[in-house]
Amino acid sequence: MTGRREFVKSFGLLAVSSQLFNPKELIAASANDEQSNKTITALPKENLSDKDFWAFIQQSYTASPNIINLNNGGCSPQPKIVQEAFENYNRMCNEAPSYYMWRILDQGRDSLRMKLADLAGCSPDEVSICRNTTEALDNIIFGLKLNKGDEVVLTKQDYPNVINAWKFREKRDGIIIKWVNLDVPTDSEDVLVSRYEEAFNSRTKAVNITHIINWNGQIVPAAKIAEKAHARGIEVIIDAAHSFAHLDYKIPNLGGDYVGTSLHKWLSAPFGTGLLYIKKDKIRNITPLMPNAEPESGDIRKFESLGTRSFPAEMAIGTAIDFQLGIGSARKYERLKFLRNYWYEQAAKLPRVQLNTSLKPEFANALSNFGIEGMKSADIANILFDKYRIHSVSIDWENIHGVRITPHVYTKLNDLDRLLTAINDMVKK
Ligand SMILES: Cc1ncc(COP(=O)(O)O)c(C=O)c1O
Repeated sequence: MTGRREFVKSFGLLAVSSQLFNPKELIAASANDEQSNKTITALPKENLSDKDFWAFIQQSYTASPNIINLNNGGCSPQPKIVQEAFENYNRMCNEAPSYYMWRILDQGRDSLRMKLADLAGCSPDEVSICRNTTEALDNIIFGLKLNKGDEVVLTKQDYPNVINAWKFREKRDGIIIKWVNLDVPTDSEDVLVSRYEEAFNSRTKAVNITHIINWNGQIVPAAKIAEKAHARGIEVIIDAAHSFAHLDYKIPNLGGDYVGTSLHKWLSAPFGTGLLYIKKDKIRNITPLMPNAEPESGDIRKFESLGTRSFPAEMAIGTAIDFQLGIGSARKYERLKFLRNYWYEQAAKLPRVQLNTSLKPEFANALSNFGIEGMKSADIANILFDKYRIHSVSIDWENIHGVRITPHVYTKLNDLDRLLTAINDMVKK
């Protein structure tokens, strides 16, 4: 009980602090991040029964009581304290936009950068705050100096925005895309590494790796592929849209020279927030999509000349980080794996159910995809919604066909039981 009280108290501090948005305090408080992080460090797991802990987390979100949202892979909702922080900043901006946006909130970016860098395990000099993965990676795709005939390795299973950006460079600049078709799901990291390696040659200048494939949740061993690429002098770009603040890792350990992610996905930060990591010695190589006065400098801030953006969304990222630290990255990952195993292992035993994601523990994460023999993916998703009010997403992309189910930290076991009932009913028909 004491543990729970302390835990709630530590989250309570966040809720209170999100209401104290006096501009001067904002900057002072951000400067004091190290201390505030200590205050809200997650309590040891053994202090709380999991049930109490996760019930508290569920109550921290404002999930619809009428539909069961199992498409958290599309975008995360925000916990109440993040919504409040956003709303408070937004109200403040509306009192005098140019004063509060430019003179106050714009000044908070460097301390937010430190906080994000702490979470990402890198130097603040390597973190740029942007609006999403698409923007982060487009800076790299269009900023890399590539010549006609240079080759870039992509997979058919990469994200469409990323594929389209590379295809445009192919058309405009005459670079060559070497396509890899990943045979997913797979239980073998070695097979995945070999597929990439087979596509490398002396003309390869860059490789694009999607750390978690959004279509089916396949984890790709980014660090192992990066090692092979670096041994040949190939630049490594990582799409970490689905893995950051979900799997438990530090960005430099992924082995990428360039990493992009969206913070409105697993960090539960406001919509339209993202992060671009560039290894310190690579920053000069990339010219930003939206240049500042020194586009060839080694200062990561050169990627932040976005013009007017949502300052309330950006500044509320700090509160989302506090919430993440309150849970603890390792515990969050364990919980997401627990939720996914809960439904996926039971579904695996049902007749006609096809698993489009590996069941192996080392590949487990929140995203998983299933199909039902004899049924179209879209029909399964429609029945899930029409009859059971379960929101999911049907996938028909390259060699992946099924329905993707993505629980989140606020998902209840009852919700997953309803999903299992629905699958059970469908396979019996
Ligand atoms: C693998 C992957 N990359 C990139 C993106 C693009 O993210 P955003 O829309 O936040 O730019 C997504 C979005 O779902 C994704 O799944």
